[in-house]
Amino acid sequence: MNDLGHAVNTETKLHMLGGGNPATIPAMEKVFRREMMALMSRGREFENMIGNYDTPQGNRMFAGALATMLQQNLGWPVTPSNIAITNGSQAGFGILFNLFSGAFPDGSFKKILLPMTPEYIGYADVGLGEQSIFTANQPLIEKRDELLFKYRVDFEHLEVNHDIGAVCISRPTNPTGNVVTDNELNKLRQLAANKGIPLILDGAYGLPFPGIIFTDATPVWDTNIILCLSLSKLGLPGTRAGIIIAAEPLIELISGSNAIFTLAPGRFGPGLITNIMASGEILHLCQNIVKPFYRNRSDNTIGLVDQLMSDLPVRIHVSEGAIFLWLWFEGLPISSEELYQRLKARGVLVIAGHHFFPGLDSSWQHRNECIRVSYAASETDVIKGIEIIADQVRIAYLKGASKVSNA
Ligand SMILES: Cc1ncc(COP(=O)(O)O)c(C=O)c1O
Repeated sequence: MNDLGHAVNTETKLHMLGGGNPATIPAMEKVFRREMMALMSRGREFENMIGNYDTPQGNRMFAGALATMLQQNLGWPVTPSNIAITNGSQAGFGILFNLFSGAFPDGSFKKILLPMTPEYIGYADVGLGEQSIFTANQPLIEKRDELLFKYRVDFEHLEVNHDIGAVCISRPTNPTGNVVTDNELNKLRQLAANKGIPLILDGAYGLPFPGIIFTDATPVWDTNIILCLSLSKLGLPGTRAGIIIAAEPLIELISGSNAIFTLAPGRFGPGLITNIMASGEILHLCQNIVKPFYRNRSDNTIGLVDQLMSDLPVRIHVSEGAIFLWLWFEGLPISSEELYQRLKARGVLVIAGHHFFPGLDSSWQHRNECIRVSYAASETDVIKGIEIIADQVRIAYLKGASKVSNA
């Protein structure tokens, strides 16, 4: 993130395909503006929103609206006591990972198991101690036709040992756009439940909102699942609002942690969308606006990669959700970090693949052959960016590690 931040401050024309910022979707912006105007016109609602701290557990009106929406639409036995708000779901992961991993008073050291890498880069540095809090599994790779591939959880080699404090997976996965199937997810639920540890399910792009999932996937929750949601990928990253849905005792811990570290989470995001949550409109917006928008972007970007890199040994991870394409250049003669640097020099920002393997030992060459490309930027930036990536990768294959083109 620091490197991306520095790059933004340079004078080179940049094509930002690196960060996790969601797209600006005009139809969603209209809805948020409408809701803000309505809020402003309702008596002292605006003044109350900005003039008062919320409870440490987060806005209760919002929690009530969300619980009702989940009960009515998904049949989940969720009450407001199962819901806590954090200042972005990233802050929630900070609390959760440090609760379930690290040094415990009995002398044990527990870890978070990531059953399949690559996995979200934002988990990597969350542990407060020196020692890594992650252990991770390498996936199976399923090649599909000439262009696509998919990672699968390698259940045969997945061990949930006594030193595991929780299992965590993002669905869809950032960076790959992979969506673990219902079947795979149920196996993970079972594995965690059998060991008496929770399954942390990161739904930042997933279900029930923002719903950026292009495959059949069932939204699930039970009291052994800690479901982490976010308002960010709906188009509200600036409001910094994350949501944790979990068993009540855990929600009390989150609330206590909020009280200590932030007094109370922000109430702007929850306040802004309480009404569209209560009416259930949120689900229609996700289904009819957000999902088709990203689906379209994904299809177009895959088409572009296929067209511009047809002479290169590129594979794309099947795009089942989220806002990124994960490109694999098999046998790439330079590292993904070197490719990142060369692309940055030409004004294209992507993320080098090796960052996305927290907890996995570094010997797997595959880590250095992939990059993550966001398709949430403007279409012009995506097109230009993919053109430059194609060119730079072609140079790498032709000339190996020795040359950097400034073409
Ligand atoms: C998989 C995943 N989880 C969590 C987050 C954190 O999102 P936020 O803190 O904006 O809710 C992100 C952000 O990009 C993400 O990609």
